[in-house]
Amino acid sequence: MEFIKNPGLKLPKIDLNNIEWPKFRIPKIGWSKMPKLRIGNAVARLPIVQGGMGIGISLSGLASAVANEGGIGIIAANSIGMLDPDYYAKNRDANTVALRREIRKTREKTSGIIGVNIMVAVSDFQPLLRVAIEEKVDLVFLGAGLPIKGIPVEDLRSAGVKVVPIVSSARAASLIFRSWAKRYADIPDAVVVEGPKAGGHLGFKEDQIDDADFALENILPEVVSEIKRFEDEWRRTIPVIAAGGIYTGSDIFNVFKLGARGVQLGTRFVATHECDADIRFKEAYVACRKDDIEIIKSPVGMPGRAIKNTFLKDVASGKKQSRKCAWQCLKSCDIKTAPYCLTLALDNARKGILDKGFVFSGSNAYRVDKIISVRELLKELTEQYLCTREKSVCRLRGEYETALERLVAFKEEYLIGLKEGLNAFRDEYERGMEKGDMFREELLMTKDEYRNALEKANRLKQELMEFFQRYSLQNRLESESA
Ligand SMILES: Cc1cc2nc3c(=O)[nH]c(=O)nc-3n(C[C@H](O)[C@H](O)[C@H](O)COP(=O)(O)O)c2cc1C
Repeated sequence: MEFIKNPGLKLPKIDLNNIEWPKFRIPKIGWSKMPKLRIGNAVARLPIVQGGMGIGISLSGLASAVANEGGIGIIAANSIGMLDPDYYAKNRDANTVALRREIRKTREKTSGIIGVNIMVAVSDFQPLLRVAIEEKVDLVFLGAGLPIKGIPVEDLRSAGVKVVPIVSSARAASLIFRSWAKRYADIPDAVVVEGPKAGGHLGFKEDQIDDADFALENILPEVVSEIKRFEDEWRRTIPVIAAGGIYTGSDIFNVFKLGARGVQLGTRFVATHECDADIRFKEAYVACRKDDIEIIKSPVGMPGRAIKNTFLKDVASGKKQSRKCAWQCLKSCDIKTAPYCLTLALDNARKGILDKGFVFSGSNAYRVDKIISVRELLKELTEQYLCTREKSVCRLRGEYETALERLVAFKEEYLIGLKEGLNAFRDEYERGMEKGDMFREELLMTKDEYRNALEKANRLKQELMEFFQRYSLQNRLESESA
């Protein structure tokens, strides 16, 4: 009998130690708070911005109440001079005077974080921005147009005023940030991305409003990833603030999961005692039903969302409305062809004269069933947010614990497979080698079995690795609890 020392078969080796078993850790979660919102050096205890609402809907009353509760309170600057009975005599000067007065009034009522919302589309954008700088507000929110040209960035910086553009797409965000970088060697401090469910003027074409591609859930992650590039390049944190249709604390949690670090709310703040509009304006929210909310064409040249009423019906049927015009306050408005004066209509609505104006609202206004205080609203939103987060983290925790059990089972199976299975095959193989050629067939079979066992072990290893990736819940848990 020929003794074969080496039948040319080599058994692959497996190093039992070459798998790193991950160490899982369940992170501690601060259950009692919402995350803060940091914009430059301004840190709001609550990540909630009260959206600027013109004309005269968000003034010192609402802005200071929100700031006092830890959110960010915003005064709407456009046509704020309408508060002055002599507006028609003073026109554009009335706006700067009223804005300055309103900022000072707000400051008297709060030491919290306040800002001013200025529409880029208004003709006195520059003078209003100048007042905000002179009064050293914490932030300016610039919407209804792209704040690119003629922004006095140095003055804003030296007055400590942070700049937050409002956009409706990643493209617009990118354009603003790139232009700023080129023109001013600087970038804005945060960005609001407002989806098509918002109230007031919308940065979308009419056919985009109900198109899922333009929904907040879709445009928000696009803006977040666009802004991430600027964050990396400039080594700055630039929070993305989501707006439009955010109604509950659960909605806040959901947009945070998509990368937002703050939210801007309009509709919810209208239905508060502190909102500066007349009670009849607020009651229009309480009274309206879902199908009362419609998209209108505004003289600004953008679509807007408002609550149906006789004024809007008359406008739609071509009935002439007052076009008393103090001056061309909107760059794009031609009062000769406009069906009505937007400023006058909105100011009438603010005063509760709803037959001579109309009420802007978000798509969720029909869900408002009562008027509450800012404090109650923010408490409700915080509780809902924390509850949703707790549910989500509990679900993840359950998933995580099941995963851990499976991991232990895997580990045992794997080690048994290797230690017992492979070693047994190895012994058999070596014994076979000693017996020589006549056992060659058997030997080869043993080798095949060994290979199969090895493949199984490797499959198991692969599965384990995928399992680790899938269940690396650490990050998910941490981000949910952030
Ligand atoms: C009555 C009303 C007036 C508004 N006016 C302005 C405005 O003057 N400037 C602006 O940038 N956004 C304006 N908005 C938009 C809000 O600031 C906010 O971004 C938006 O309403 C968020 O959507 P939500 O109402 O679904 O919460 C207005 C919204 C409402 C409801």
